Amino acid sequence: MRLLWGFVTLSLCVYHTVAATDPQITATPGDEVFPGNETSVTLGCSITDAPSPIKGSYWTKNGEKIKNTETEGADATTEYSIDKITNTAGGKYACVFDTQPQSIKEIEVKTPTHVKPYKESEHGNENDKGVLTCVSHGYPLPLDWFWFKVTGDSEVAIINGTEKYEIKSTPERTILYVKALDMTADMGDYVCKGDNGLGMATGQIHLRVRSRLAALWPFLGIVAEVIVLIAVIFIYEKKRKPDEVTDDDDSGSAPLKSNSATNHKDKNVRQRNSN
Ligand SMILES: *[C@@H]1O[C@H](CO)[C@@H](O)[C@H](O)[C@H]1NC(C)=O
Repeated sequence: MRLLWGFVTLSLCVYHTVAATDPQITATPGDEVFPGNETSVTLGCSITDAPSPIKGSYWTKNGEKIKNTETEGADATTEYSIDKITNTAGGKYACVFDTQPQSIKEIEVKTPTHVKPYKESEHGNENDKGVLTCVSHGYPLPLDWFWFKVTGDSEVAIINGTEKYEIKSTPERTILYVKALDMTADMGDYVCKGDNGLGMATGQIHLRVRSRLAALWPFLGIVAEVIVLIAVIFIYEKKRKPDEVTDDDDSGSAPLKSNSATNHKDKNVRQRNSN
């Protein structure tokens, strides 16, 4: 009896796995799409041998449902148009048919490598550590990152793990550390390159190195400003005393002024009344 029960469960399991892999979904233009420099691309799915009647369909990108892609009905085909091929257009797309169980087909949209400097210009103080960062927002992300220093007309490859340089990379970003910054040797342009298997893309960063003294300038500026301010206040206080007599003269003429002001107001009131 137990043996029979085991056999039934086993065959049910087998039936389920078969049923789950059974539907045939054909993707257009293919399982992998390379839009290259096309401006738009239309993805399509067509299902045959659905495991149950189709109630509708929708599309996902990187596991999240794409808004306004839901359709209802027994339609065995569905389309989704990517209207603008930007560096963020790539990713793992999928069409999902509402069946029991769900029928899903993944389509990978692969765009050319995207590389961008985090900041196009960086600066550091003499003897400090310079930090240069390049990032990628594309699909696929770079598998390899490289750094170069622009020297004259050529680019010299930077080797990781020397006294001068250290490189830390993840698929999303690469960071170049330039240690013990030197004003003449390290100032200049640096190039990062990434490759996602569909070609190389580059970014360029300008590094400025300031002398330690230059870092002091703002502080010296503030000190100079305070000295000037104190001097001005001091001189003003000294000169002010003889002025006080004329100040009194001014206040003497004040009542006259306010008289004319009230006269004016009276005239306004009168005018308004006559209206
Ligand atoms: C560079 O070298 C350091 C240590 O020497 C290491 O931790 C790091 O992963 C290396 N970076 C790359 C991009 O290989």
